[in-house]
Amino acid sequence: MKITRNNVWKGLRALIGNAWRPSFLKALTVHVLEYSATANLRRRSPVASLPLTDPRLGLGTPFTLTYEAKKGNTSLLEEYVLLSLIRSCGVQSFFEFGTYLGQTSYLLAKNFPLLRIHTLDLPASEVDKTSIPISAGERRYVEKPVIGAKFLGTPEQERITQLTGDSATFDYSPFEQSMDCVFVDGCHDYDYVKNDTLHARRLIKEKGMILWHDYLTYESVSRFLNELGRELPLYHVPGTSFVIFLRG
Ligand SMILES: C[S@@+](CC[C@H](N)C(=O)[O-])C[C@H]1O[C@@H](n2cnc3c(N)ncnc32)[C@H](O)[C@@H]1O
Repeated sequence: MKITRNNVWKGLRALIGNAWRPSFLKALTVHVLEYSATANLRRRSPVASLPLTDPRLGLGTPFTLTYEAKKGNTSLLEEYVLLSLIRSCGVQSFFEFGTYLGQTSYLLAKNFPLLRIHTLDLPASEVDKTSIPISAGERRYVEKPVIGAKFLGTPEQERITQLTGDSATFDYSPFEQSMDCVFVDGCHDYDYVKNDTLHARRLIKEKGMILWHDYLTYESVSRFLNELGRELPLYHVPGTSFVIFLRG
């Protein structure tokens, strides 16, 4: 059983219930030993890291990657997939639920000078005023010093339209049926993903697409997308946490 934030007590009870079993103790010992051995190896590694931007890796071609390994950001492969998708589908308008540090908005603005980017986030001061309560685990993403720190003060900033407010009550009417691509990556709580998706469906053009982040990462996001998959043709992009809906 995988312990997630939604089944902590049940998970802990199961863990304690299993603790006396020899097979469990053996697996736990192997895991701890392996982990501490590799942690020790990593700590003492004399081999320097090659920056991902090193031209010999060729990772930046034909795109400029802006990857930073931070919790809540997209992975390097996800950056690549997103950029390829935006290019191959000729996306001209993009709406993002959840700006966070601005990693994705910045990445897109840097690579697509003509792309119209809108990105919505909840100011930290409003975390207790949302119409759907935000769970404790999600508050850390809201409670950051600034929204979009990655692009603030860069030349890309002026091509990113920052929107603020609660995604559950935001007025989307000026943007209805105007987006080629909507990225659902706001609050990961089930009710929020569901609600943001309802809005995303109204935001996309007739042939627009919706992309969700964090499938198979969060139980809540996965459960919602598994349910939605019975209603709409959804596709998971292997090696990433992206799920995609292509309307055209
Ligand atoms: C995982 S981060 C987004 C990462 C970002 N999309 C990226 O790719 O760099 C989730 C963001 O959703 C925002 N958020 C959470 N609840 C929200 C709400 N009710 N309305 C709008 N944004 C919300 C958080 O403040 C946080 O910045």
